[in-house]
Amino acid sequence: MNTRYSFLLAPLFGLILFSLLSVARLESAEGPGRSGAALYKEYCSVCHGDVGGGDGFAAKYLDPRPRDFRSGVYKIRSTPSLPTDEDITRTITKGIPGTLMPAFEFEKDLKEVEIKTLVAYVKSFSDAFDSETPEPISFPKPPSKTEELLAMGEKLYVDAGCGACHGSSGKGDGPSAKTLQDTWGYSISPYDFTIPGRMKGGSTVGDIYRALYVGIGGTPMPAYGETYTEEQNWGLAYYALSLSDSDEDSDDWGDDDDDWGDESSETVEGDSNIGKDLVMGVKPFENGGPPCIGCHSVMGIGASGGGPWGPDLTIAHQKFKEYGLETILETIPFPTMGPLFHPRRITDEERGHIVAFLKSTESAEVQIASVKASSFYTQTIIAGILGVILLTFIGLIAGKKNMELK
Ligand code: HEC
Ligand code: HEC
Ligand code: HEC
Repeated sequence: MNTRYSFLLAPLFGLILFSLLSVARLESAEGPGRSGAALYKEYCSVCHGDVGGGDGFAAKYLDPRPRDFRSGVYKIRSTPSLPTDEDITRTITKGIPGTLMPAFEFEKDLKEVEIKTLVAYVKSFSDAFDSETPEPISFPKPPSKTEELLAMGEKLYVDAGCGACHGSSGKGDGPSAKTLQDTWGYSISPYDFTIPGRMKGGSTVGDIYRALYVGIGGTPMPAYGETYTEEQNWGLAYYALSLSDSDEDSDDWGDDDDDWGDESSETVEGDSNIGKDLVMGVKPFENGGPPCIGCHSVMGIGASGGGPWGPDLTIAHQKFKEYGLETILETIPFPTMGPLFHPRRITDEERGHIVAFLKSTESAEVQIASVKASSFYTQTIIAGILGVILLTFIGLIAGKKNMELK
């Protein structure tokens, strides 16, 4: 080969290397996504526990408790026993109304493949799924609502004894209501039919039909199966729906917290020392919210169980500025934090203190931010360019050596 041109090959190799690098990186960005274990740790373990025991850091703040996945007992199913993958997917993407199980929206919070991975991961905590592949029951389409159906439902509601738990007027205050316990030993209230749109498995007439047929797993709500005719089941379902007497769609959060977020956001001059105590869990929140350090780390502190779930807060002020932080803490728009803080509002004063504290941590850690800011595309391009330069040099030197040898 003509050595005079050999140095020209170097940039060529550099280019090839560069494109290979880019392809590998792009593939890893679009590929199967994060592992089930990583996703679970980031989004679920804070409530459901590291090994699915329903005993994560936040569990003690929740009622009802997060599911213990080891039990293989599920509330929301389209089968008489175990949920199908679609059932679990539905729970993850829609959440469980009236409880603190958040909705992780497709594409917004998690990719479709990631949700699929999570479903498999959650199932792996219980060996119940090893021996059985759940088959969904196919339920009939709802008939239209008629006076006769409603009247039949009303009568059956009494005859079937729904009132013993749900109360004669459906307010969830029947004579046995106070004594009911779930499979996991916690007390559980029958649904209050006068509240619209808050049923766990969905609040359409079809959803109620399904709940009547297969029950609510792990709770005293019976599975009526074939006890009643199809028509009778529809009657009961329509009657139960009619008790809320409202077609309004309600929001996902409880009645008691309707006040969150709509108060005027006056900026209160905060005290960063108090803010620090609040964040670190030294001083409890007035409304009982969990300490931030349980999930976040800040300035490298995250000692006893701190830190693994939320992003490090050291540079939060730099990222969001004062107004951004105020808004975040007022509305808590995140799926993991929101359900814990919406019913336990951070007060205006507390918010001011926390923001003051986060403002004071920022100067320490400016470098971290700038390193993280460079996206991997930038890194790829830099790596590629460096590769080209390096190989060009090697090529030039090699070429020169060759010529000298001649
Ligand atoms: C803020 C706390 C919280 C987080 C975070 C959370 N869950 Fe839950 N989850 C709950 C609670 C509470 C329940 C039980 C509600 C009930 O029993 O009515 C639950 C129940 C469930 C159920 C059981 C549904 C059934 O039919 O019984 C599944 C499945 C589930 N969660 C999956 C997940 C997955 C997957 C994640 C992470 C992507 C997650 N959860 C994150 C609180 C949480
Ligand atoms: C032994 C007590 C008991 C009886 C009897 C009972 N239920 Fe329930 N029911 C419950 C409990 C407890 C829940 C709440 C379960 C939960 O929140 O996890 C419930 C929940 C429900 C729900 C809400 C489902 C959802 O997705 O959230 C409907 C609908 C319902 N019951 C209908 C009925 C009807 C109709 C009858 C009579 C045919 C009936 N129940 C009889 C205890 C009972
Ligand atoms: C139950 C765990 C948990 C608790 C408690 C919690 N957070 Fe979070 N926080 C998270 C998670 C997880 C995220 C990431 C967004 C998401 O997926 O929900 C987050 C995000 C944030 C963000 C945005 C950070 C960023 O870089 O994107 C801020 C700011 C924040 N939290 C502040 C706080 C403060 C202040 C407190 C205490 C009042 C607190 N958090 C309590 C879990 C928690």
